[in-house]
Formats: sequence, structure tokens, C-alpha cells
Amino acid sequence: MQGKRIVLGIGGGIAAYKTPSLVRQLVAAGMDVIPVLTESAHHFVTATVLTTLSGNRVRADLWDLDAENSMGHIELARWADTLLIAPATANLLARLAHGQSDDLLTTLYLATTAPTIVAPAMNVEMWNHTATKRNIGALKTDGVHVIGPEHGEQACGEIGLGRMLEPEDIVSQLLATTGPISASMEGIRVLVTAGPTRESIDPVRYITNASSGKQGYAIAEAARDAGAVVRLVSGPVALPSPRGVQQIPVTTAAEMKAAVLDLAGDIDIMFGVAAVADYRPIRSEPHKIKKTQQNGPSISMDLVENDDILASVAALPDPPYLVGFAAETQNPIKNAVHKRERKCLDAIVVNDVSDRSIGFDSDENEVTLLHADGETTFDRSTKAQIANKLVSAISALYAKKRT
Ligand code: PMT
Repeated sequence: MQGKRIVLGIGGGIAAYKTPSLVRQLVAAGMDVIPVLTESAHHFVTATVLTTLSGNRVRADLWDLDAENSMGHIELARWADTLLIAPATANLLARLAHGQSDDLLTTLYLATTAPTIVAPAMNVEMWNHTATKRNIGALKTDGVHVIGPEHGEQACGEIGLGRMLEPEDIVSQLLATTGPISASMEGIRVLVTAGPTRESIDPVRYITNASSGKQGYAIAEAARDAGAVVRLVSGPVALPSPRGVQQIPVTTAAEMKAAVLDLAGDIDIMFGVAAVADYRPIRSEPHKIKKTQQNGPSISMDLVENDDILASVAALPDPPYLVGFAAETQNPIKNAVHKRERKCLDAIVVNDVSDRSIGFDSDENEVTLLHADGETTFDRSTKAQIANKLVSAISALYAKKRT
């Protein structure tokens, strides 16, 4: 994670007293930290301490002309690789959720395309209040990562959920969320396909599969965090759009193929994570198919094969580095080796989806990466962690192929 640039937003809660320790630990992990205080944060921690520990001038005021002249707030928003807000008080969360920009920190939140992580801290009743829950829900929908709070004794003497995570836990969650920076993809153009496709039977029915898009979205985010310019061609999923990633929504396999081929000449690495329907109904009925006596107790449908998207890209004159995925329920490695050869892929990532706790729609995965020089298994962990490891491994394989 060396060299990662963190804007650390500090809200006005008692937990702000832990931020000098947080700054020390972020700096010790190799990060460049610029602290940004809200007006009320000054009551709990001093700018002098934070400047000394971070080695950077603390920012606090949107109207500080000296600071604005050295690095304006829009420049600061662009400088950040990650916006980390700790502690995030109930008031600060409400302002963020409503898109207010009435001070430097909330303005930075709106102006940055970097991933945002918030570590809430407040009294247990405030955390449990419907308004706070609503604000947290809205922030999550907007793509903000919420870490904590934890259960324990609070400054007010009450016991319950609301304590900010300890600095060491914030640092490790930050590393898990944003990934190791050593996987540099600086300036590399990456295309990710994710989610399922839907093949229409009639206006109200379709053929699809159980892909949630989680693994593909995590890969798009990991590549973005490693410095890549990322495009995400996504089937219909219920996930927030990753910040700083160009998203192209599609529905059918044919639309996904068209969107991919439109971009393929302009990319360096493609991850085909989408679970594309292999077949579609030969025709989509213009009106809802009725249940009639005439049809009898069973009906049948003719299906036609969809074009293979990865194979179409592999057939281009100068194809990108191609990474396919294989969801298998039997002989996963053997089938994936065959699939890699058949589709002319540089590498393939194998999921054994016979285990329902990994693969489709789960929060965790366990995969094996197969390529020309061998194979590596990434043990069970979150899809974000798997994505970081895959991005690391693929950036090394891509660099090797180029030289
Ligand atoms: O989305 P999640 O819920 O997080 O689940 C993740 C996942 C299980 C969907 C993902 O990790 C995964 O394994 N994706 C590939 C699933 C799949 O459909 O595999 P496949 O064996 O059918 O296809 C092999 C490869 O060919 C895939 O890269 C696929 O994108 C590609 N393909 C398939 C059909 C087609 N017409 N064109 C293609 O390019």
C-alpha cells in the first residue's frame, strides 16, 4: 500500500482523540496523509499534533486562501486515492448523505471520485435512530464503505454499538477495502464484464442465472485502486456503481457482446467475469404467453446459441490480455484448462460453484488462477480480497507478456 494518498476527514466527536494514533499508523503503513478537520473537530484534537504526525499541513477551512493557493479543494479531491472519514459523527453522516457541501470536508466528498470509507462513532441511541439508519443506507447505496462501529463502553458511560473502530482495525479494513498498491496498473486500460445477462422469452419472462455481479464489481474496484482506467460492462445487478469507473449497462448477451467489441480495440486487459447466457429463446414473443388448454400440461421452447464474447475478442487482430472465468460444478480444473484453450485466453479463473457458500451471489470466494506458466490457488476470503489478489497476479502476468 506504499505511497497511497489518504485524505483523512475528522468529525467533531470524542473519538477524534484517537486520530493522532490513526495518522501515525497510516503513515507507518507507507501512506501520505492530509488531515481535514471539521469546525467542531477542533474541540477534540489539535491541528498542531496532526500536522506534526502527518508531515502535512492540516486543512480545515474552505475559505483559507493560503491553503487554497497551495492546493485548492478540487485539486485536493483529485489528489486523494482514498477519502477516509473517522470519526464520522451522526451530523456528518447526515450532511454527507444529503450531499451538502457546506464546509471543506463535505465539499471534498462530493468532489472526489476516490473511494470513500466512513468509520462512524456516536452514542448507541443515536446510532440506532431511524434517521441515522436511513443516512447509512443512503451512503451505502451511493457506494460508500461503512466500517464499524463496534460494541463496547462509550464515552457517555452507556454500553452498546457506536464506538469507532480502533485505529489498527481501521488501517486493516482500509487495506482490505482498497487493496495493496503494489499491484500497479497505473494508466492500464481495463475492461470488466460482470453480472448475468437476461434473455427475453416474452415481455414479462426471461432466462438468466444467479450472478450477483459482486465478484466482477470487486475486480473493477481493485483495478481502479491499482491505478487502471476501468470500464465495466454490466448486466442487470442490484449493486451501486463503483466510483471512478465508467459503467456501461446492458441486458442481453448480444448487447454485452456489442458493448465489449465497441471498447475492445482500446483496452489492455479484459476480465470476463460475467455469467453470460449460453443460449437465448429463438424468438421473444411480443405478448405474454398465456396458459391455455391448447398448450396442454407442458410446453417447449427452442433455444439458439449466443455468440461467445471472449472468443470474439480473442479473434481480433490485436486482442487485449484476456482473463476468463469458469464456474464449474464438476472437474473444475480439467474443464477450465479446456475452456482456456478453446476460447484462446491468456488466463482463466476457476470457481467450484458446487460449494454454495462461494461463487454465485456469496460474499466470499475461493478460486484458482490458471495461465500458461502454472496455477495459483487463492484461499477462501472476501470477494474484495480475491479481487485484489487477482489484480496483483494479472498485472504481473500482463507485464511479463509485454516484455
Ligand atoms: O457475480 P457473482 O455472484 O459474484 O458470482 C461470480 C461468478 C461465479 C459469476 C464469477 O466468479 C464467474 O465464475 N463468472 C463466469 C461464470 C460463467 O458463466 O462461466 P462460463 O463457464 O459459462 O463461461 C466461461 C467464460 O466465458 C466466462 O468468462 C464468461 O464471461 C465467458 N462467456 C461465456 C459465454 C458467452 N456467450 N460469452 C462469454 O464470453
